[in-house]
Amino acid sequence: MNDAATLAEAAVGHNRPEPYDVERIRQDFPILQREVYGQPLVYLDSAASAQKPRQVIEAVESAYQEDYSNVHRGVHFLSQRATDRFEASREAAARFVNAASSDEIVFTRGGTESINLIAATYGRKFLREGDEIVISHLEHHSNIVPWQMLRDEKGLKLKVVPVDDDGNFLLDAYAELLGPKTRFVAITHMSNALGKVIPAKEVIRLAHQRDIPVLLDGCQAVSHQAIDVQELDVDFYVFSGHKLYGPTGVGVLYGKMDLLDKMPPYQGGGEMISSVTFEESTFKPVPHRFEAGTPAIVQVIGLGAALQYVNDLGIENIAAHEAGLMEYAHQRLAEIKGLRILGSTENKASIVSFTMEGAHAHDIGTIVDRAGVAVRAGHHCAQPLMDRFDIAASARASFGLYNTFGEVDALAESLNAVTEIFG
Ligand code: ALA
Repeated sequence: MNDAATLAEAAVGHNRPEPYDVERIRQDFPILQREVYGQPLVYLDSAASAQKPRQVIEAVESAYQEDYSNVHRGVHFLSQRATDRFEASREAAARFVNAASSDEIVFTRGGTESINLIAATYGRKFLREGDEIVISHLEHHSNIVPWQMLRDEKGLKLKVVPVDDDGNFLLDAYAELLGPKTRFVAITHMSNALGKVIPAKEVIRLAHQRDIPVLLDGCQAVSHQAIDVQELDVDFYVFSGHKLYGPTGVGVLYGKMDLLDKMPPYQGGGEMISSVTFEESTFKPVPHRFEAGTPAIVQVIGLGAALQYVNDLGIENIAAHEAGLMEYAHQRLAEIKGLRILGSTENKASIVSFTMEGAHAHDIGTIVDRAGVAVRAGHHCAQPLMDRFDIAASARASFGLYNTFGEVDALAESLNAVTEIFG
């Protein structure tokens, strides 16, 4: 069964503690109470960055107001408090993705830095001239450019798994790309531009048959489905805090301990060393070896609160709510003249990307904005995927745990206004 089907089944079968009360949940998000241009805000851009519940805002505030100090360095009370809260977030992140140990969780600045870290450490150490890395046509730039940089530095080859006209990841083509020279697979778990979810377990199984490690870019998927890195048997899993209702400036890199352990440091500096002389330095064990300098202390603490918030609601409940919104959005948008949805509805979560006849994506974005509706318009940092569909840009509505069916209606009505102007 593919991941999206598993997700849907889990959503239907979940034993919910209470009905999903989206109006009550919205009260947790102060920004959702505001108006823009005199209209209620309809925030449909959570795939770019999600809004924050007051539980996260309060955790950040209390970290600064009550427990702020540097971490891992002081014997004094506040340093201990800050360190305890910081490390509690590491434990929370480990539980969130079901890592075998919190030592397998490295905090970074975001998903992008997590991927760059893997390319710069694992990639530099273990990949050699002529080796091949497999990525897919669904990638956003964060999971293309670091590999291109490594390719150019080391003389590697990048192989790209194609997608079909419906935006589906082509598993058979992927299997054919895996060869004797393939040394690494780096693929998005869920496309940020189309919402398509890949058959991750199968992708990993096929690579492991050839002893090839797999990195899944979970920046989008992690907000919409339960992630179990042990069940997936994935080697690296990365995501950002800010798309998961947490602060900006913090991300997570999960890696299997046996891989992390043999990777060299990423950046040098304080915190990651065991000893330093002018002749040489020795390094701390994982994960601290990869966390040079003062980390994003308060953001990490805020991320812990975000994970708690999502856990309290239940990711399966969130997924079920979002699946309903997606179904309704497809239905409403299909009624709009000249609107073309990119990517079929199968294996798709929480993102609807579309173009409209005669209207540029930026025109769409600007017109709906005046009605208070925030969508992303552009290439979504996924230019090769836009090229695949012969478009320069699309408009993208992305749904989060706080969106409502009424907001889907607001989107559809604002798009009708676009049709009136351009149609
Ligand atoms: N990758 C983010 C997006 O999809 C920024 O919008």
